[in-house]
Amino acid sequence: MNVTKFDEQQRELTEANAAKPAKPVYILAIETSCDETSVAIVENGKIIRSNVISSQIETHQRFGGVVPEVASRKHVESITWMLEEAVEEAGISLQELSAIAVTEGPGLIGALLVGVVAGKALACALDLPLIGVHHIAGHIYANQLVHELEYPLISLVVSGGHTELVLLEEPGKFRIIGRTRDDAAGEAYDKIARAMGLPYPGGPHVDRLAQEAESEIKLPRSWLEADSYDFSFSGLKSAVLNVVNQSKMRGEAVQTAQIAKGFQASVIDVLVEKASRAVREYGAKQLLLAGGVAANKGLRSVLAERCAELGVPLLVPPHALCTDNAAMIGAAAFLKWDKQEFDSMELKAEPQLKLEEW
Ligand code: KG4
Ligand code: ZN
Repeated sequence: MNVTKFDEQQRELTEANAAKPAKPVYILAIETSCDETSVAIVENGKIIRSNVISSQIETHQRFGGVVPEVASRKHVESITWMLEEAVEEAGISLQELSAIAVTEGPGLIGALLVGVVAGKALACALDLPLIGVHHIAGHIYANQLVHELEYPLISLVVSGGHTELVLLEEPGKFRIIGRTRDDAAGEAYDKIARAMGLPYPGGPHVDRLAQEAESEIKLPRSWLEADSYDFSFSGLKSAVLNVVNQSKMRGEAVQTAQIAKGFQASVIDVLVEKASRAVREYGAKQLLLAGGVAANKGLRSVLAERCAELGVPLLVPPHALCTDNAAMIGAAAFLKWDKQEFDSMELKAEPQLKLEEW
């Protein structure tokens, strides 16, 4: 009889628990790896409760690129008020937070340090678990904030510092199948833009000019070995610099728009071809675009056409989630929360952190 009573109590308890919605997991995330300071609060790795971003672009513009020391100082100036604003905007109290996440690498050492120190201080003061996050995992998982992910998937990561094809057979298991051997795609965009006198960051300007131009200057494509998923953009960059210098030497106007169109066509051709080959070879259910260059209109439209032909959905985050932001860090941090894998107060900023080892 007693046993039966216990079973009944247990059943009632289980039913009551099942009816009760699970307590939401709120992760406060910090991103300071380069020239954007950002703090976000993300619910269950999927819902953005706040995502405050302060870009330093205007500060670095006059130098034509990011100045690391200036970036660190700007992060220090912004981080405290941004933390307060992110909490206020989310409308939740500090006591409701479940964990603190912070980008631990890769990135600029001084810039990363500001976030890591802030993250540790908060985790320590609030007695919360600490989660160090890989920046590129963040870019990839930005897609989780707006889409349902299905595995296996291929992610084409194209940012200012990275160009990689990443295979994910299951959540959080990253395998890099191709990477750039020299410049990242965004870096090449920024360098050729600078040579043509366009403002920093050059990517959006080259993208716009490429859409506007009616004709293009033909430029080379770097395919590398037939079976390789690696990329190389330095030859293309040099070809652009040659065209620009020759025009200047002849005293002719630089055909900025036609060069932009030719450059963009070359970059897109190689990215789309290799990404779609990877989708076929690995039987991917989705292709995810990630990183700052994912904002590129030309790349999005050609990739969308190719994916339609392949019958595989192309997932792209909205513009604000393509470039650096902390919500994507909160989304990726949830992978570690799920496994209850936390970092200690020994967490360090790792400028060369490897995605496959994260
Ligand atoms: O991901 P992100 O914000 O920072 C890094 O982690 O590197 O990417 C910034 C890069 C810059 O190189 C910028 O020029 C490029 O993304 N970018 C673009 C576009 N918008 C941003 N490149 C091409 N077309 C765009 N529309
Ligand atoms: Zn980034």
